[in-house]
Amino acid sequence: MQRPSFGTYVHVPFCLARCHYCAFATWDDRPHLIDGYARAVVIEVGRAVEAGLPEAGTAFFGGGTPSLLDPAQLGAIVAALPLAVGAEVSVECNPDTVDLDLLTGYREAGVTRISLGVQSMVPHVLAALGRTHDPANVDTAVAAIRGAGFDTWNIDLIYGAVGESLDDWSTTLAAALALDPPHVSAYGLTVEAGTPLADDPARHPDDDDEADKYLLAEAALAGAGRTSYEVSNWARPGHECRHNLLYWGQGDYRGFGCAAHSHEAGRRWWNVRTPERYLALVAAGEATMAADEVLDLEDRRIEGLQLALRTSGGVPDASVPDDDDLVGLVERSDGRATLTLAGRLLANEVAVRLR
Ligand SMILES: C[S@@+](CC[C@H](N)C(=O)[O-])C[C@H]1O[C@@H](n2cnc3c(N)ncnc32)[C@H](O)[C@@H]1O
Ligand code: SF4
Repeated sequence: MQRPSFGTYVHVPFCLARCHYCAFATWDDRPHLIDGYARAVVIEVGRAVEAGLPEAGTAFFGGGTPSLLDPAQLGAIVAALPLAVGAEVSVECNPDTVDLDLLTGYREAGVTRISLGVQSMVPHVLAALGRTHDPANVDTAVAAIRGAGFDTWNIDLIYGAVGESLDDWSTTLAAALALDPPHVSAYGLTVEAGTPLADDPARHPDDDDEADKYLLAEAALAGAGRTSYEVSNWARPGHECRHNLLYWGQGDYRGFGCAAHSHEAGRRWWNVRTPERYLALVAAGEATMAADEVLDLEDRRIEGLQLALRTSGGVPDASVPDDDDLVGLVERSDGRATLTLAGRLLANEVAVRLR
């Protein structure tokens, strides 16, 4: 697995509609800002380049829905970023917003990897999540990914919506695998404060149900040759997301756009949250940062272990205590400790015991 030494992130804070579970910094009522926003990001990147922005091995366009940018808008940002030869350039896409022309344009602009937000292939589950896309659009989107010539791409799935049976989840897994994605991310539905889901306890997920669905995901995905390389991520060998490997390895990255986070050598900072505020600061030639923090060395060390624990590489053996209640949750060999399948279900409980 290739882990780059430096990455870039571009936040795109626009969506066609807001899903009921989502707390990301994104707005569904500001399409008029998109063009000016893409130009502002180019300006912010240009200023960082002048100040010595290093060459990056990855660029990740996240959101929001980056696929609301047309190829010219997205391509201008890619062209402004200093990227190493062979860099991974990923774009998160919503199935309702992609077609062959758009993805062909992205490919020509230097995009190498597509991540598609599918979530479920069962209509009543999509409705329970407050998703607006038609499952038929997923087939069209995947045909466009293939037609445009992308050979590495991902499908995002969510399990645990109210009313989703184990059969529904198996249907989603089978339908997703039938599309033959090289990479699958499967997330347990999380209740995020401030979302319509948070306000509706009747729709909150159940831990035991999510654990059963995690086991189904592992069986289906591993059975189909996608290996778990992080608790929520499975890939064919060679199709791991290098940008995520950088995050999990506590690497350095620079974020552009509103609400984007950056990390360099133990210092973290983040930009102002709204697109309006961001646009005003860029236009005024002022810094876009909202605040920063410096992690103390011990906090940084523990955070590094917690991130690494979730990956297939695990952590140094000595960092997991030899306690009876951790038996069966970690496997120890060659000086490393890695989570077992039972341990992956209880990753947070193991993480708080790292030393
Ligand atoms: C920025 S979105 C991906 C692209 C696009 N916006 C879309 O949703 O189609 C990132 C992913 O985070 C996951 N996600 C967001 N909020 C979540 C939550 N509350 N619980 C679980 N997964 C979540 C979803 O799988 C989603 O696809
Ligand atoms: S999950 Fe994706 S499409 Fe839905 S609101 Fe969040 S960012 Fe937008």
